[in-house]
Amino acid sequence: MSMEQFPVFTQKEELPTLAEEESRLLGGEVAPESELKRTPTSLSPEERAEDAERAFDAHMEAMIATHRVENAGNNGLIMRLTPNDVPEDARGMLEERGILFEEGAAVKLLKVYSPEQGKKEYEMLERAHTLVAEAPNPEELAQIPRPMLYREIAISKETREYLNQYGARLDNKVAVIMMEHVAGKDMATHLYDFILKERNYDPAVVEEMGFDEKQRLVSQALGFHAPGGNAPTEGEREFERIQVMVGNAGILMKYASDHKFQVHPANIEKIRRTAQLFHQNQLWHNDLHERNVMTKDPGDPGAGVYIIDFGSAGSRDESKSSGEMRASDETIVMRLKAIVDSTHAREREAQGLKDELLSFKGRLKSVGRWDVEYPKARALFGANPQTFLDGRFAAGSANSTELDKLIVTLDEMLEDPEVAEDKKQQITSFIRRHRESDKRGYVRKRFSYFDTRQKKDA
Ligand SMILES: Nc1ncnc2c1ncn2[C@@H]1O[C@H](COP(=O)(O)OP(=O)(O)O)[C@@H](O)[C@H]1O
Ligand SMILES: [Mg+2]
Repeated sequence: MSMEQFPVFTQKEELPTLAEEESRLLGGEVAPESELKRTPTSLSPEERAEDAERAFDAHMEAMIATHRVENAGNNGLIMRLTPNDVPEDARGMLEERGILFEEGAAVKLLKVYSPEQGKKEYEMLERAHTLVAEAPNPEELAQIPRPMLYREIAISKETREYLNQYGARLDNKVAVIMMEHVAGKDMATHLYDFILKERNYDPAVVEEMGFDEKQRLVSQALGFHAPGGNAPTEGEREFERIQVMVGNAGILMKYASDHKFQVHPANIEKIRRTAQLFHQNQLWHNDLHERNVMTKDPGDPGAGVYIIDFGSAGSRDESKSSGEMRASDETIVMRLKAIVDSTHAREREAQGLKDELLSFKGRLKSVGRWDVEYPKARALFGANPQTFLDGRFAAGSANSTELDKLIVTLDEMLEDPEVAEDKKQQITSFIRRHRESDKRGYVRKRFSYFDTRQKKDA
């Protein structure tokens, strides 16, 4: 097999061979060079197959050693492989295993080597994928990344050092899960990106940030609590940690809904139905939180939702029995639903306010006051805008009917062709200023009427 087409490997020629490295780490004898460099013609078919396997693993290792870590969770490092990263002969080996390498793949490297853990995660991923693939209603479900390959491969010192820089704790082997690469971002990243955007961070800068950095900034911006850790027993400390996490999740979700983070109910339903399908088939995800759900756009019902990370999955619900903190499969659904519900509540409130103000205006009209008072107000405003606005606002602060009258008057003037554009600008900035400076919230609430108005215009 030719190594030239994979430059990285050539570069590694001076390093110990995998066999030498492995046997060194295992404390065995180093095989003599001559044995390792036999010509292919002298090999039996079995030996040739073995050789191909070894070459394949060497390719895999070379790929791992040269790829940027795209994402990292607590247990895994994620890399993205494109079709170009897979040399022809390795592609052949994949195809023999029924893996077509056309769209690229995600590679998950377990930070700690454990063959049982890796195998189990891969099996759970396969089960979940099959359940969804065979369901009669796939369009109503979340998708599961297609499993491609599970492999435990020997790694050189360099590869190990490279991966350990990213928080892995590897020795001479790594468990590798290859699966479909999912486009988009996990929900936690969507939420953090949204908040950082609301906080006026440069989107280009946010795009380059790692998850931990985003989490740090969001946690600062929203004033997340940190666990005190003074509880006497580990159990109590764990309980405290959970309380704090739940509290922070609440702060996060409230911010998200107050600032109109969009999540479509159909996407939440997909998560709920898929978890339900799992449970009906004795499969529990056991770690179903925002970091383990991916989509291109939470607000778009057509975007597709993926459930990932079957590292804690099993045939029992371990959310309560486990000593560690694990989310039960239902909590994410409840959290996301709360965003939608409060969005609906806010929309209902906005509609109520709009109805109230419009019927108030209707009453003024029906008793003939509007036709007299509106032109008068417009004339006063035209003569001296600031005096008019300040005077009416002072009256409105003392009397809620006066405040509503001011609102419907300004609303009309913003539509009025006889009011000049620059005067309309003055009204808009007057509204903004008073909304932001209002401490008690009454004016802010009443002035939120102008939000629905903006939407109507857009
Ligand atoms: N198949 C995939 N395609 C694209 N991104 C992924 C894929 N799997 C995981 N990720 C990203 O990497 C992060 C960590 O992966 P995950 O499997 O959750 O690891 P961990 O077990 O460490 O939590 C996820 O939160 C997600 O953002
Ligand atoms: Mg995860």
